[in-house]
Amino acid sequence: MSAETTGDPAALLDLAARTAREAGELLLARRLTDEVSVAHTKSTPTDIVTAMDTASEALIRDRLRAARPDDTILGEEGGSVPGGSGVRWLVDPLDGTVNYLYGLPAYAVSIAAEVAGEVVAGAVFCPPAGELWTAVRGSGAWLNDQAVRAGDVSELDRALVGTGFWYDSGLRARQAELLRHVLPRVRDVRRIGSAALDLCSVACGRLDAYYETGLHPWDWSAGLLVAREAGARVGGLPGEAASRRLAIAAAPGVFDELRSLVVTHGADVVGSPVVAVRGASSSGGC
Ligand code: IPD
Ligand code: CA
Ligand code: CA
Repeated sequence: MSAETTGDPAALLDLAARTAREAGELLLARRLTDEVSVAHTKSTPTDIVTAMDTASEALIRDRLRAARPDDTILGEEGGSVPGGSGVRWLVDPLDGTVNYLYGLPAYAVSIAAEVAGEVVAGAVFCPPAGELWTAVRGSGAWLNDQAVRAGDVSELDRALVGTGFWYDSGLRARQAELLRHVLPRVRDVRRIGSAALDLCSVACGRLDAYYETGLHPWDWSAGLLVAREAGARVGGLPGEAASRRLAIAAAPGVFDELRSLVVTHGADVVGSPVVAVRGASSSGGC
């Protein structure tokens, strides 16, 4: 049996990384040559899809399907297509669509491979920066060919913290209320606009921590593995893996304090009642 038909994590990473790079290069090339506009909207009028979200996902599905026809693929735009191999791909073909629309250079392709429900390989490619983040479970995390480590901050009031907001205005109001309690307790807050890049930023110390409520598995699966393999602590609500209710990654010295601050001020309530996840399960525990 060839490596491409097994769940060998290194082979899965190789396929994820090649495919993320190819899709990202397509996104970048089209951003430079074509007009980018909203093709349609999803959960709210600001939850947009461009033609390039769809084109990127089509390319990714083609490449994964050609290499591994029996795998399950869960992609943000196309939902879940089941397979029988025990390997599942979690695909965000364009994370940071609003940045892409506006020409801000913080967007990425995120591809993770899960074997028996555990994320074992992840690749995040940011085309404008030429940055490819990769990780295999138990084998460290990389930015291009450099190993990366999360920061070592130990005081929350010295921590630069990333977060993000969902598209629904009611949920946003509650996320803003949570942020009101976080902001005075940390060095500062960044809203980069791509959950995958937020998580990779924690992996290399560009951020000390990141939390968000209301995400989907395709947003966090690859980036959370990269952060974890770089030495960050990652997870969800206490005792749980990352979920729609909370995804959090932080330098180990500030993880507990930040999570308890976020939970105290309603992370579990904030993320819970929104739209159903299409065929998704949580992944990436502490
Ligand atoms: C969004 C981005 C954003 C986060 C949102 C996500 P999309 O993904 O990751 O940073 O705050 O919650 O939905 O829609 O650009 O793929
Ligand atoms: Ca996303
Ligand atoms: Ca997306």
